[in-house]
Amino acid sequence: PVLVVDFGAQYAQLIARRVREAKVYSEIVPHSMPVAEMLAKDPAAIILSGGPSSVYEPGAPQVDAKLFDAGVPVFGICYGFQAMAQALGGTVAHTGRREFGGTPLAARPEAGVLLRDLPAELPVWMSHGDCVTEAPAGFAVTAGSPGAPVAAFEDLAGRRAGVQFHPEVAHTAHGQAMLARFLYDIAGIEPTWTMGNIIDDQVAAIREKVGDKEVICGLSGGVDSAVAAALVHKAVGDQLTCVFVDHGLLRAGEAEQVEQDYVAATGIKLKVVDAADRFLAALDGVVDPEDKRKIIGREFIRVFEAAAREVAAAGDVEFLVQGTLYPDVVESGGGTGTANIKSHHNVGGLPDDLKFSLVEPLRTLFKDEVRQLGLSLGLPEAMVWRHPFPGPGLAIRIIGAVSADRLSVLRAADLIAREELTAAGLDRDVWQFPVVLLADVRSVGVQGDGRTYGHPVVLRPVSSEDAMTADWSRLPYDVIARISTRITNEVPEVNRVVLDVTSKPPGTIEWE
Ligand code: XMP
Repeated sequence: PVLVVDFGAQYAQLIARRVREAKVYSEIVPHSMPVAEMLAKDPAAIILSGGPSSVYEPGAPQVDAKLFDAGVPVFGICYGFQAMAQALGGTVAHTGRREFGGTPLAARPEAGVLLRDLPAELPVWMSHGDCVTEAPAGFAVTAGSPGAPVAAFEDLAGRRAGVQFHPEVAHTAHGQAMLARFLYDIAGIEPTWTMGNIIDDQVAAIREKVGDKEVICGLSGGVDSAVAAALVHKAVGDQLTCVFVDHGLLRAGEAEQVEQDYVAATGIKLKVVDAADRFLAALDGVVDPEDKRKIIGREFIRVFEAAAREVAAAGDVEFLVQGTLYPDVVESGGGTGTANIKSHHNVGGLPDDLKFSLVEPLRTLFKDEVRQLGLSLGLPEAMVWRHPFPGPGLAIRIIGAVSADRLSVLRAADLIAREELTAAGLDRDVWQFPVVLLADVRSVGVQGDGRTYGHPVVLRPVSSEDAMTADWSRLPYDVIARISTRITNEVPEVNRVVLDVTSKPPGTIEWE
């Protein structure tokens, strides 16, 4: 792999993704990992990421100089660039000329390989206080900026290069081209990380792990479990049984999508548990959001557990598939073994006598790779591109107690919003588009010649990178107008449509 050494910047994951976009496999490792351990991974190259520190701060993470003696190609970015310069005998100074944000770069493309064929002046994204004032011996300086006299350098013989700016962010023009230059032309790596290879590798690994045992997988209707199951099915066929607990809180068409389209596309053996009545009964009269979540979580485990026992009783089931993704692995410490806690958590904690070993075929993948994989495996597009949807489903989008009637009102309104978003070609422009029913609120309206006294629904389209922060999406007014008109015309219980214009924070994405 290419190792991305994380110096505590929010950019490490982005760098790793960009490397993979260049069809080269990458992994993130903490800067605290000893060099010997990094080298034991037989890295094709090492990328030192940006970080929040100044190289002069006491306790600032250092780069062990042994890293540069190993003959492994190295690329330094931002803090990694400065740490590299310092470790190799260059000069890093605190000049007081900080640069943050878009900055014009003056490049000398012909002076090296990294920036070859790129414009001599290009906008790059900077975020630094200190800067490199003198490159280490043997390095050619190939760019500078007003606040960073040495903004890019390279030592081709030593297969090392670095940049002060952030090539991984979209604000840096040709950033991806620079990363590719480093990987292919300086480090000499072949672009072999392709979907076809990912599938082949995973299929082989799953077969090896599972042998002739049986495997079980819970489907949620979401992308991750669907892709994980499809991959395992490709590897071991009918040794896999999927369980889909329909809690009756999904949106219009979603249960059918799992039960029909997904099964048709994959040929997977599916056990459907229709538990809608049970969930409705348990939620009867419950208004408090946390109570709703707890009840749904508890019921879900009970139903899934019963189904898992039935499947396990019928065969020699030893494995449980989990759709754990790489960001979860990185965030929970990255090591092997850490995922168990997390995964256990994901299933909601199965009882001890139902012990399965985990199969986590997406453990090395980012979300965008999972989507590509889903498409390569022939899954329905609507499922692959599905927006995130909360486990407790529509129950936490009905403000007030949940009932079958209220669910069908919300489903109808939600379907209209989704249809119009899709028709406007905006599905990929929003992160999520919750529609919320204010079931205990009524307002007066007029329709035809009559007075109405109906419920409002809230449109909550948001844009986000990771759901940690979000902003309300500026959807075109004509799209919002169509959604509003259709909902009030087609859903008799609703006489008012309002738009939520709150960012997160202070609001959360969901209303409960
Ligand atoms: P909030 O509302 O906290 O949501 O801004 C952040 C993201 O998490 C989703 N979400 C959930 N997902 N179980 C889930 O699987 C839950 O209980 C849950 N609550 C919120 C929400 O849809 C958004 O993507």
